[in-house]
Amino acid sequence: MQSTSIQVSHSLRSDHYVDNKIYSDPAIFKIEQEKIFKKVWKFACCESEVPNKNDYRSLSVAGVPLFVARSPDGKLRAFVNSCSHRGAKIVDVPRGNARELECPFHRWTYNTYGECTTIPREEAFASAGIDKSKCGLPEVRCESLHGLVFVNLDQEAKPLVEWLGGCLEIFDDLFGKAELEVFHFHEQVVKSNWKHWQETNMELYHEYLHVLNRQTSMREPAYFKRKWRGYSGGHATLDPLVVDYSKMKGMKSRGGYELPGLQPNEFRLVDIFPDVMLNCRATVMRIDTQMPISPSETLVQFRGLGVKGEPADVRKARLRDHAEFWGPFGRNLPEDQFAAERQTETMKGEATPISLMAREEDNMTQDDFPIREYYREWSALTGLNPADPRPAATGA
Ligand code: FES
Ligand SMILES: [Fe+2]
Repeated sequence: MQSTSIQVSHSLRSDHYVDNKIYSDPAIFKIEQEKIFKKVWKFACCESEVPNKNDYRSLSVAGVPLFVARSPDGKLRAFVNSCSHRGAKIVDVPRGNARELECPFHRWTYNTYGECTTIPREEAFASAGIDKSKCGLPEVRCESLHGLVFVNLDQEAKPLVEWLGGCLEIFDDLFGKAELEVFHFHEQVVKSNWKHWQETNMELYHEYLHVLNRQTSMREPAYFKRKWRGYSGGHATLDPLVVDYSKMKGMKSRGGYELPGLQPNEFRLVDIFPDVMLNCRATVMRIDTQMPISPSETLVQFRGLGVKGEPADVRKARLRDHAEFWGPFGRNLPEDQFAAERQTETMKGEATPISLMAREEDNMTQDDFPIREYYREWSALTGLNPADPRPAATGA
């Protein structure tokens, strides 16, 4: 690796930095798609987005278009969203409901069991031994926990619950007491490497970026003392914190309609490898997930969740709380985008060779422990050393 003054002068430990090529090298991006996104459980949607028979929700994993559907027997299943005839994409909208999904090209149809149900003028395929009973869509694994639906392209992967390794326990109080539903969804193509986005959810030293965080959570005496906990699989959780949001001018305390199982104004966080974050700020749960497009472009999806069936006035208050922090024009989320894009921009030109993850604070809030754990898993799956990935990536 190209040496830098900071590296030379400090003789850095190899797990205290990453080579910035991991954010810009197309060969590494391809390895990530094949060895991470085609192997791990990928958050797809919430069950509340597909509540009825024949509801479906589309997504893409490692470039493979998929859709999750609730079959008439009530079970959730996931299929490759590509026609068995000549490969055209079948579902081309984010979500919908249909007993029959029709490919627009030659009008083959499929039901939500993935079975092919119609082939126009099918008889001409007979001499080739083709009939619709053999033309169903490939099914991929689909499992859910606490209403969170995950898919996996790897038929050999361990079960979802085992892979999560207990990292969702931090939300057991909440999930045990209420059924949540998505009330707000937006997505955005962020001009950043996908890991830069995920790091904004793990590396909390960056909270100096946010005016809002500086004036609220960072003023709490317990803020710096919370501990990170790591889980097998690269996941991490952070101890809860009660935050006085009224310290920020124009903001109100978040009490009275906090999510069940949480205290008023309580913050909880879990990061799920490789691309998911669940974050509660008392009244709202935010879920992030990502669909990397290229080394420097990522589709990020943001969901806001509240309690299913709650009164309209409470829902309105939750919506306001969500938008205040995490909406497209919120006080927090756009600042993360600003920072992540500035990182990726410099790294495209290889302006800076390394990024530090060298903070050691007994695993407390601004310790880089969660990103070191994250890159340990990244390395195990890709076979690359994040501090020196180029030789393995290029085969040099
Ligand atoms: S490609 Fe779908 S019907 Fe022909
Ligand atoms: Fe942030």
